[in-house]
Amino acid sequence: MSTPPALTSPPTGRVPPQNVFSDVDSGFGSSINGTDSNYATTIGSEVFSYVYENGRRYHSYREGIYVLPNDDREIERLDLYHHIFNVLLGGKLYVAPLGANVKRILDIGTGTGSWAIDMAEVPPNCKFEVDDVESDWMSPKNYYDFIHARSLSGAFQNWELLLKRCFDHTTPGGYFEFHDYDAELKSATGFILTPANSDLANWWSLVTDAASKSGRSFKVATSMKERMEKAGFVDVTQRIEMWPLGSWPKDPRMKEIGRWGKVGLSESLHAFASALLTRVLGWEDEDIKKLCAKALKEMDNTDQQYHCHAYFISGRKPDLEEE
Ligand SMILES: C[S@@+](CC[C@H](N)C(=O)[O-])C[C@H]1O[C@@H](n2cnc3c(N)ncnc32)[C@H](O)[C@@H]1O
Repeated sequence: MSTPPALTSPPTGRVPPQNVFSDVDSGFGSSINGTDSNYATTIGSEVFSYVYENGRRYHSYREGIYVLPNDDREIERLDLYHHIFNVLLGGKLYVAPLGANVKRILDIGTGTGSWAIDMAEVPPNCKFEVDDVESDWMSPKNYYDFIHARSLSGAFQNWELLLKRCFDHTTPGGYFEFHDYDAELKSATGFILTPANSDLANWWSLVTDAASKSGRSFKVATSMKERMEKAGFVDVTQRIEMWPLGSWPKDPRMKEIGRWGKVGLSESLHAFASALLTRVLGWEDEDIKKLCAKALKEMDNTDQQYHCHAYFISGRKPDLEEE
């Protein structure tokens, strides 16, 4: 990792342009990490070569491990989710009380890089690197002032190890932040959704069971606060926001989010089910498409007030004198 450029503008009320590393994303990376890390890679054939399964494109870097596609449909889905997260946070990109001295920021599993690009404000402040966050990190310990991890539930086998790395590589006094939705599909009418009474719940139950069987569970957000505390972070705060999945809310802002939420969920149906159900449960794609079509039909014809919750959790690495 090269030395970050000096800040060009003095800090203002808002965190100034940063050196944002959209790092260790094994799927969408674009720049160079010419180190000798086990999986770090210069941009090469492996990163830009893809594998195709059931009409979806997947990255071939560490093929078969990450279960979501990286084709144009998925890129649009991630952009929509970026927007939803942003609106849920009232236009903010983070919840941590970041000071003016934040210089190095890391966005792990950056995807399309939307968060990192917004955070960096100007392109020279953002560098993309391709690496595997589950392997040893090449950056020094106590290096990043802020590490951000969003929408990564289901991506990793060992969150304890990942959190330890995030802790070790954060500067004392720096912050780590986790943003994701929980893996729980609920109805605000009080109706308890189960696979037996809901095709949507059936889809989600099959997907989450397959993910758990593969060792990369989606059920991460609700226990993340505790896990971060165990990893050593202090002053851990948790903000939970309702994420409507339909235009049922009366409040206009929530209604709008619900409209996007429903589009996002309908685009997630096949993206989430395809690789997991074929690779882990041995399903045929034709049956997966039927499963998704039933779930979509239910979403279009229901009075149920579907929603889940988004979790925004932030923790600080203690200063040296606090240890
Ligand atoms: C659902 S996307 C979220 C992208 C982005 N964080 C966002 O919120 O828009 C998950 C990303 O994690 C990346 N990823 C999965 N496993 C990874 C690993 N072991 N190392 C680095 N990145 C990984 C995938 O390539 C994908 O880009």
